[in-house]
Amino acid sequence: MEHAQGTLMKSGLGSTECSQCPRLVALRQAVRDRYPDYFASPVPSFGDPEADFLVVGLAPGMHGANRTGRPFTGDHAGILLYEALYQSGFSNQEKADDPGDGLRLSNCRITNAVRCLPPENKPELSEIRACNSLLSRELSMTPAPSVILALGRVAHQAVLMALGLQAAHFSFAHGALHELPDGKILVSSYHCSRYNTQTRRLTREMFLDVMQKARSCLRP
Ligand code: URA
Repeated sequence: MEHAQGTLMKSGLGSTECSQCPRLVALRQAVRDRYPDYFASPVPSFGDPEADFLVVGLAPGMHGANRTGRPFTGDHAGILLYEALYQSGFSNQEKADDPGDGLRLSNCRITNAVRCLPPENKPELSEIRACNSLLSRELSMTPAPSVILALGRVAHQAVLMALGLQAAHFSFAHGALHELPDGKILVSSYHCSRYNTQTRRLTREMFLDVMQKARSCLRP
């Protein structure tokens, strides 16, 4: 199975064989037993491999990326994320609910702090650490000057960890912008989860604004 801009290879980066996190491996097996059609493997990044703009989410959602194999595809969080990317000129279409939908990202790539489905959407620190080398690799593929949009505090902290930076020096807030020592710019946002949007902690307008802010930091 292939995506236009990401290969659902069950080997290499994001390998099915990854067995570093016993809790996530057990959940993956349980999901495969219950939903044999689900991707239920580490979800690879999606988008332009040479992008200057990297969006970092938390982890695949049970019936979203864990089902479809593409970050933020098929669940509630993806509706707002892909709308905002389209509105800011990072994609060819707003519709993004199926890996076969023809979506292409331009100068944008999406990844997650943790690539496997965590129970209750809550990865443990050891799981974030275990996946952090993959995030480091993603970040090294987006050399400065580049812009990173972290969705939620966990993604924000995972980015800092992957870059060997101390979270205490780069505090998380919605709309916060930090210039990092290597010249990258880190913009942070509340996660576009169903919970955050339904409680209106994050409105559509707030999210479109933060996406525009990130866009405006990119070199012309
Ligand atoms: N889907 C993802 O891939 N990541 C998230 O953080 C949420 C949903």
